[in-house]
Amino acid sequence: MALNMDAIGKPIGPMTRDYTWKDAVLYALGVGAGFSELDYCYEKDLKVIPSFAIAMIFDFFFKTATASGINLAGILHGEQELIFHNPIPTQGTLITTGRIVDHYDKGADKGALVVAQSDSVLANGKILFTSTITIFARLDGGFGGKDRHKPPVEFPDREPDFVVEASPSPDQPLLYRLSGDIFHLHVDPEFARMSGFDMPIMHGLCTHGFACRALIASLVPGHPERVRRLACRFSKTLYPGVPIKTMIWKTAAGTAVWRTVNAENGQTVIDNGEFEYGDIPKDEIRFDDRVAIITGAGAGLGRVYARELARRGARVVVNDRGGSRDGDGDGSTSPADRVVEEIRAAGGDAVASYDNVATADGGANIVQSALDAFGSVDILINNAGILRDKSFVKMAPEAWQAVLNVHLKGAYNVTRPAFAVMKEKGYGRIIMTTSAAGLYGNFGQANYAAAKMGLVGMMNTLKLEGEKYGIKVNTVAPLAASRLTQDVMPPELFERSKPEFVSPLVLFLCSDRCPVSGNIYNAGMGIFNRAAVVTGPGKVLAKDDQIPTPESVMTNLKAISDLTGGKVYPNLNAQVGDALMAFQKPAATAPAGESQGFSSASAVFDAMPGAFVADAAADVNAVFQYVIAGAGEWHCAIEDGSCTVAAGVHDSPTCILKMADTDFLKMMNGQLPPMQAYTSGKLKIEGDIMKSQLIEKLFKFNTSNV
Ligand code: NAI
Repeated sequence: MALNMDAIGKPIGPMTRDYTWKDAVLYALGVGAGFSELDYCYEKDLKVIPSFAIAMIFDFFFKTATASGINLAGILHGEQELIFHNPIPTQGTLITTGRIVDHYDKGADKGALVVAQSDSVLANGKILFTSTITIFARLDGGFGGKDRHKPPVEFPDREPDFVVEASPSPDQPLLYRLSGDIFHLHVDPEFARMSGFDMPIMHGLCTHGFACRALIASLVPGHPERVRRLACRFSKTLYPGVPIKTMIWKTAAGTAVWRTVNAENGQTVIDNGEFEYGDIPKDEIRFDDRVAIITGAGAGLGRVYARELARRGARVVVNDRGGSRDGDGDGSTSPADRVVEEIRAAGGDAVASYDNVATADGGANIVQSALDAFGSVDILINNAGILRDKSFVKMAPEAWQAVLNVHLKGAYNVTRPAFAVMKEKGYGRIIMTTSAAGLYGNFGQANYAAAKMGLVGMMNTLKLEGEKYGIKVNTVAPLAASRLTQDVMPPELFERSKPEFVSPLVLFLCSDRCPVSGNIYNAGMGIFNRAAVVTGPGKVLAKDDQIPTPESVMTNLKAISDLTGGKVYPNLNAQVGDALMAFQKPAATAPAGESQGFSSASAVFDAMPGAFVADAAADVNAVFQYVIAGAGEWHCAIEDGSCTVAAGVHDSPTCILKMADTDFLKMMNGQLPPMQAYTSGKLKIEGDIMKSQLIEKLFKFNTSNV
């Protein structure tokens, strides 16, 4: 019976398992712990061996095998990876959900691989670990599927830094099986003989537990909670009672490779071991259950973003058209395929998309790929890019248009359908990729610079449109070694500029922890800073409605250009508000002893008809609705040169002005200029903001008599 291809992507679980300290101790005894490691065996100050994780989710293995339709006569546990997000507590309720990631075909006589991944969380939602199981289905190869090419783990060409010897007891499987794997092969001599073995064999995962203890004792002694990742391939069977040696090589800070060998015959029983250790960050940023689209992810920066997002749990659409650096050529499926393969080999979940971002259909297809494969879109990184550099006069229209089509129109084409999905679900993270060439200028890149600044403009609007739907849009200007930069970057800089130095910022901006929207950041070589459009305070040259002259601009250029005290505006209204405020006279402070003006909001509205300047109201038809928190609502209708003021809410106001009672009185008494009230957020205006500017002309209050 062939493997069930429909099982790929299908969820498995949730599976719930309650466990107590006794389960953790039983496991520890099963993998050889004893009095010499009492921390693992005594409920007082008990520590959990992290590899206990796999014993707790053992059912997931069989559910995967059943769902995939593996011929059970040929089933072997091929590989195992555990990534630890938080230390495993000594008791709790564990909920595990996962899915079958893919099936690989090694060939008719070589078998198949079934890869499945799961996340295990505590009942309170705290994630503990991610497991990736690779089942070797010896009898299921030859179904015509793709093969998997996983790079081998490289072992240093030197003696191991640690060798830990151990002697599993001849009865070890009898104890280990009580932790969950009660398969007959490990207990029943007759069944073992029928299966071709002299006697029941060790569970591979039992030897794995011995190895995990050895790794902890060598690299993080006394601190099992510092284990971050444990991965390996099971390569040979082992009989109980045969001594083993676990050999460990440190490879870099916090990483090691390892293998476990049969000490009697030197055969490697567990190979390709990898081990990562260090403090588990308390608030690791994760993307579990998030779906990310990365355009142009077949190489360079996009590839790294895709891999890193997948490593932290995201399901990823790897889009890449696969053309040449200038976008010419028919394209190719291989860059996207290669990255998908890398992600899957590392236990992640990804699908390829070969669509061209430069067309509307391409953009729609990319988003559809995410919906088809994973049912949603949470993250979009607009990253695809090409270059066609030429000095400006030599820049033919095709070179101009091709670059705009990929970068600017491309981002529009993909963002639009993705934005619709995000709006619907009330969550989204969008990244635009700009460039220092656009932000600051670069010779020979007029097309590219224009497109890259166009993306900043698009972000500025989308951050506003996305705000109430939980969609955050930010822009990154990367600096990284890639084929786009290999001939423009000095070689020594190229070396120091791995895309990995950019991705931490991009990942953070894509995460649910990201608090900002509408920001631009430079990132490269490990340095990060914010870039922004800054507006200086400037100078008012118009006096009494007189139009200033070009000569007055010349004379005042220094003050006009000065950025001292400059501001970064969140939107157009804030900038226009500040410009209008520059015309305001300083707020009048009432001299002591004189009237303090209006003492209540209702007094203002009582005085309003008398303050109306009919001459200023020619051609003005408007209804101003006032919502004064703490005082009430009034509206003022101006029509055909007359003014009517009434309490209550009008059904079709031209604009609505909202203020707190105290601020309103300050404003009406000349202590708070209206523009200052507006730009500081004390006065909120909805509807036709330009019409609200007329109010000052329409009413002239005489507060000395109230
Ligand atoms: P890269 O050339 O390594 O990667 C870009 C990828 O986009 C390629 O794999 C390409 O096949 C793909 N692509 C091109 N046109 C496409 C289309 N129409 N549809 C789908 N995929 C397409 O370049 P790199 O350096 O990784 O650039 C990524 C982004 O970062 C680009 O937007 C680039 O402009 C930007 N950038 C890069 C800088 C750097 O220092 N590497 C500097 C500033 C910006």
